[in-house]
Amino acid sequence: MANLLIRSAVVACLLVCCQPVPAQTKLSTSISSPVAVRSSLSNAASEKKVEALLQKMKLEEKVGQLVQYSAGQPTGPGTGRTDYEDMIRKGEVGALFNITTARQVNEYQRVAMEQSRLHIPLLFGLDVIHGFRTEFPIPLGLASAWDPDLVARTARVAARETSASGVRWTFSPMVDIARDARWGRMAEGSGEDPYLGAALARAYVRGYQGERLDAPDSIAACPKHFVGYGAAEGGRDYNSVEISEHTLRQFYLPPFHAAIDAGAATLMSSFNSLNGVPASASPFTLKQILRREWGFAGIVDSDFTSVAELVAHGIANDGAAAARKAFLAGVDMDMVSSLYHENLEHLVRSGEVPEAAVDEAVRHVLRIKFALGLFEQPYADETREAGAMLQPESLSLARTAAERSFVLLKNAGFSAGAPVLPLSAESGVIALVGPLADDSKDMLGSWAGQGRPEDVITLRTALTQRVGADHVRYAKGTEIIGGSDEQSAEALKVAEQSDVVILALGENAPEMTGEAASRAHLGLPGRQEQLLEKIVATGKPVVLLLFSGRPLTLPWALEHVPAVLAAWFPGVQAGPALVRTVFGEANPSGKLVVSWPRSVGQEPLYYDALNTGRPAVNIDLTRPPKNTEEKYISRYIDEQNSPQFPFGYGLSYTEFRYGNLQIDKTQLSAKSLNHNLHGGERTASAAIVVSAEITNTGTRPGDETVQLYVQLRGTSVAQPVRALSGFQRVGFAPGETKKVTFALGAEGFAFWNEQNKFSVEPARVTLWISPDSSRGSEATLQITD
Ligand code: BGC
Repeated sequence: MANLLIRSAVVACLLVCCQPVPAQTKLSTSISSPVAVRSSLSNAASEKKVEALLQKMKLEEKVGQLVQYSAGQPTGPGTGRTDYEDMIRKGEVGALFNITTARQVNEYQRVAMEQSRLHIPLLFGLDVIHGFRTEFPIPLGLASAWDPDLVARTARVAARETSASGVRWTFSPMVDIARDARWGRMAEGSGEDPYLGAALARAYVRGYQGERLDAPDSIAACPKHFVGYGAAEGGRDYNSVEISEHTLRQFYLPPFHAAIDAGAATLMSSFNSLNGVPASASPFTLKQILRREWGFAGIVDSDFTSVAELVAHGIANDGAAAARKAFLAGVDMDMVSSLYHENLEHLVRSGEVPEAAVDEAVRHVLRIKFALGLFEQPYADETREAGAMLQPESLSLARTAAERSFVLLKNAGFSAGAPVLPLSAESGVIALVGPLADDSKDMLGSWAGQGRPEDVITLRTALTQRVGADHVRYAKGTEIIGGSDEQSAEALKVAEQSDVVILALGENAPEMTGEAASRAHLGLPGRQEQLLEKIVATGKPVVLLLFSGRPLTLPWALEHVPAVLAAWFPGVQAGPALVRTVFGEANPSGKLVVSWPRSVGQEPLYYDALNTGRPAVNIDLTRPPKNTEEKYISRYIDEQNSPQFPFGYGLSYTEFRYGNLQIDKTQLSAKSLNHNLHGGERTASAAIVVSAEITNTGTRPGDETVQLYVQLRGTSVAQPVRALSGFQRVGFAPGETKKVTFALGAEGFAFWNEQNKFSVEPARVTLWISPDSSRGSEATLQITD
């Protein structure tokens, strides 16, 4: 990996140096190479220690290392045990989670280190998903910044705060591909695309684990949920999943592979069944792919009671069978079920599970405990804890991250005037309306870690500070769910007395977004849509700030409200970030990482779909079909195929013009690309270089995320209409032109073919450099034999 990065840098430098105009270059690197990378989680010295310790362990102590309980709040459905101290003393527990303070961590750790026979430290885990105390935007928002470096920096802050509390393991990043907005957990991940998902997966791991896992402020990452969890049928959480091996390898596995390549120390198996086999009992994914193909050497943790759930899935008739199946499939650690604790020893003694398999699982656990330096430094420094939280630079990063996460969906003129946003000092009196305008709990989003509502600066507070109390009239207008006619009437009065209305509407978190929050209806909940329509009817210019963990279907609002900003759930700095954006001190630059549906019936909806045998080309889909040509194609008779806003879309207060697309070759050979891909040492040299000139045609500085897409035709397996193969976030001064260059390696043209081999085939290739997945200048080339 290091080699690959060095070469990327060299290629990038060479290219930049030859450009006549300021240039940005990026070498597109692998998202899905099957080549296993040697694990960086161990070395000869630590392996020796692992073996020496293993030799001393009794079978029950080995099993103990594979047992994990939730010892804090929330405990969720589980065992209800309270005798952890006694179990730890006997060596019956390897890991605990949901403990959040250094003092509690140290108390439990002291029992393990001082009172258990072998003094093996416990591993403490927690769901630190988008921050520990300093809450950043939800991952879907963070991903919308298309900025791996930003993601890594937020993960570093999270690692510092988490480790200061004694917790050295986070159940993050969630790298599930999410193509269906009904699924509430879309909020927790990086969206629908495997290339972007892989880039951000690497960034999270880099941020959490730092330079060295044994540094006191590093925490182990846990990419989850392996695998296919995001493809739950009907978008219903925990539901069954059917994915072909091809689709699994090409779309769902790349972010996991990237995280493992980046050195992730652990991984979590998922709840769902995959093609009939529960993922927490799948030797194909857990052993064949993860261990054999990718060379993973760390811990596979089950999801919360997913071992016990094998009984409900119907592949085990009792706890012992569930434990045996999960364990033999490759789940090392049993989170909460207690079934390894109750059954594994007996399963070994009865010969149903080989002790060598237990040894191997214990090696994985001990290896990570050594890698984290827990044997040398098992305790948290309680004096470091308070000072590590909410540091000024962490809060400033939280504000930047929030600003970059916002996606400006619409910014039209009001009464044929200039675009409504940004507001200015002359905008007059502002009516601030909506249940999320002065809300501090929901701004934290789902999985808000240790984030506290009192740490949040709300929109109302920040706006009042910015323009003064005389210039803001606030009315809640309605509750998120519920609300009264009086609230609505008050909001209308306030709107009528003002010059412009900012409406803050959306979902509540974590009730409507996150785990166990699938929705069959994706409109604004409660009476919010009615409130919105009444406010628009006042004739005042309206700015809609939308808070949600997914795209919402809002056809009326998107037609009638002049300015709409998707704000997701922005975290502790929600208010300042929103106010700076609304007033133009921050220029929106986020781009959608999920396709925004027009209606729920379009889901699952994703840009990198196949063409089908009857694509709807050059046909007006805004009306029902009029003849057989218009009817017998792949379409809805009552809805368009296209999303409301495509993947990669997002506006700015300035505008960018794309032009002068250039490509340095029009022919490539599959043979030499495959040699490059598979022949001995992989090289990351560029197969082709493609560039475009992009100009900021407006009067404000702005960042633009320039996207590179590829389409392959004539291949053994049908390929998506477009696949993201590179992106760069580039800053532009007003009027500035930059040549943005992508160097695409062999991997940019490879895919999982009909034999499920990752390789390049002869193909006709179209490339786009574009502002989103639906447009852009294109170039073509041919891959010959
Ligand atoms: C979730 C995981 C989480 C685990 C531990 C489960 O319900 O699916 O994402 O890490 O709980 O809290």
